[in-house]
Amino acid sequence: MATVQIRGSKESFSGNEEVAAYLGQQEILFESWGVDRLNGHLRESYALSPEEKQQILDLYDVEITDLKSRQGYLTQDVIVVSEATPNLDAILEKFKKEHHHTDDEVRFVVDGSGVFTIRKGNLILDVIVKAGDLLMVPAYTRHWFDLTEERKIKCIRIFKDPAGWVAVYDEPAALATK
Ligand SMILES: [Fe+2]
Repeated sequence: MATVQIRGSKESFSGNEEVAAYLGQQEILFESWGVDRLNGHLRESYALSPEEKQQILDLYDVEITDLKSRQGYLTQDVIVVSEATPNLDAILEKFKKEHHHTDDEVRFVVDGSGVFTIRKGNLILDVIVKAGDLLMVPAYTRHWFDLTEERKIKCIRIFKDPAGWVAVYDEPAALATK
């Protein structure tokens, strides 16, 4: 279950419906797909085989197919980030720098947790996502990401073109006022 904290404000939102409604006002898609359908191994293992990753994707086929048809996404995969990830700290340093992508960044959290910080002009939102949460950061929206204290996250990524989510660190002048 996600939480949204507004920086510089005491205002925060928690609970799937409240978070979805608030983020929806910001044109950020949030859905709760849940993880009840996953067995313990598929949910907890961070050393999944390609076949096991495919099993996870198959279990969410209905939701993924629906989202792809609504948003025009074409493909999906499973990504795992944990202490076992080579060069974890160097990877996190990149994630933690403000950037945007030319494609939407879509993540469904299978296990673990993370914080997507999303900046829209002066509004800065910390969106803490946990297992069962789907978050879509729209293309060209400035954001950054960090793990939480548990330092692990396993996600389904859904995208149009892998080239589309290469991080763009420089902020184009046209975006500075968005
Ligand atoms: Fe990103």
